[in-house]
Amino acid sequence: MPDAALAAAGEDRIAWAAAQMPVLRSIRERFAAERPLEGVTVAACLHVTAETANLVRALVAGGARTALCAANPLSTQDEVAAALAQTDGAEVHAARGEDADAYVAHVQALVALEPDVTLDDGADLVSAVHLLAPAHAPRMRGAMEETTTGLLRVRQLEAEGRLRCPVLAVNECWAERMLNDRFGTGQSVLDGILRATNLLLAGRTVVVLGYGWTGRGVALRARGAGAAVIVCEVDPMRALEARMEGFEVLPSLRAADRGDVFITVTGSTGVLRGEHFERMKDGAVLANAGHFDVEIDLPALREVARGGVREVLPLVESYDLGDRRLHLLARGRVVNLAAALGHPAEVMDVSFATQALCVEDLVRGADRAPGLHAVPEAIDREVARLKLAALGVELDRPTSEQQAYRSSWGVHPGR
Ligand code: ADE
Repeated sequence: MPDAALAAAGEDRIAWAAAQMPVLRSIRERFAAERPLEGVTVAACLHVTAETANLVRALVAGGARTALCAANPLSTQDEVAAALAQTDGAEVHAARGEDADAYVAHVQALVALEPDVTLDDGADLVSAVHLLAPAHAPRMRGAMEETTTGLLRVRQLEAEGRLRCPVLAVNECWAERMLNDRFGTGQSVLDGILRATNLLLAGRTVVVLGYGWTGRGVALRARGAGAAVIVCEVDPMRALEARMEGFEVLPSLRAADRGDVFITVTGSTGVLRGEHFERMKDGAVLANAGHFDVEIDLPALREVARGGVREVLPLVESYDLGDRRLHLLARGRVVNLAAALGHPAEVMDVSFATQALCVEDLVRGADRAPGLHAVPEAIDREVARLKLAALGVELDRPTSEQQAYRSSWGVHPGR
């Protein structure tokens, strides 16, 4: 159970984030008036942050009984968990630094509630429902997944014919790709690295492994901080895009002896391995921003560290290779949430507003078949409209001539 003595500090943090989350606030106000989630149980396996607390409170305002557990053992903000646990209608199962057994027990506690809707960051909860309570899965209104890694796992469940509920692919909606991944991850990953190390990035070489939406954001921000950026990719289209953006593109083994800072953002496994560590420079920093701690091969890193491992600063472990040291951040876990506070609230406002509307749509909208589904475009548009309104940004409207032009066709010789 969260420590109640921390609750006041948690409330301050939640309020600080709330001030940057006007879209979610407007949805929460509507939910409080309309109670669209009355009688519904929502279970969420997300990072337990101030931004997530605001989402949980919006769902509770809508009438949902809402339970939250951590999507990562190192990302929980204990004071936020304490404050949220005191909210009527919300329960929290999370503690920063929880061990593997506690992590699994917390996920299981949420499965036992037989939720109508699940929210995931990594697909642990929806996987646990399918493994532990397979008969319950078809009774769910649906599930949501907000990471690339999680969607890979959901797609695998679907490919094996074992996915028994509808899942909304939140990770692939506009808000996630355009805003959350690019701007949220881009900034917060550098924030985590800088908080942990206080390194100057200008003049250094940063190697970004993976050029998906998050990799694009990280590369862009690293360049903005004055670093020379090398991108490593396996996908030809992404590699070409990176090259056209002006980044140097190299195979990871050739980048290994060039980089000062390595950032994995692939959603895959074993991206930096023994053969890379053997080539890296003294003092190289290794950070991961992919969902699981498998992108940097930690057993291989321990194996090459014949001189041992020592925590030299909080969340900075020095691996002694004899002639060189490599510095691993946040034990290879999501550096932006473990060493910093995750994406800024402005960004999570858009993500969590989208997710709140998705919960409403799963509960109140038409039944969906089991399988993966896109987030309805109407939700993306509505969230964008609300965010622009909150920012005071006005749009042009197409003239009647433009509308007619767009709906005409035929051979057009021009004027
Ligand atoms: N994922 C990335 N940043 C986050 C945040 N601030 N809160 C919840 N989940 C996140």
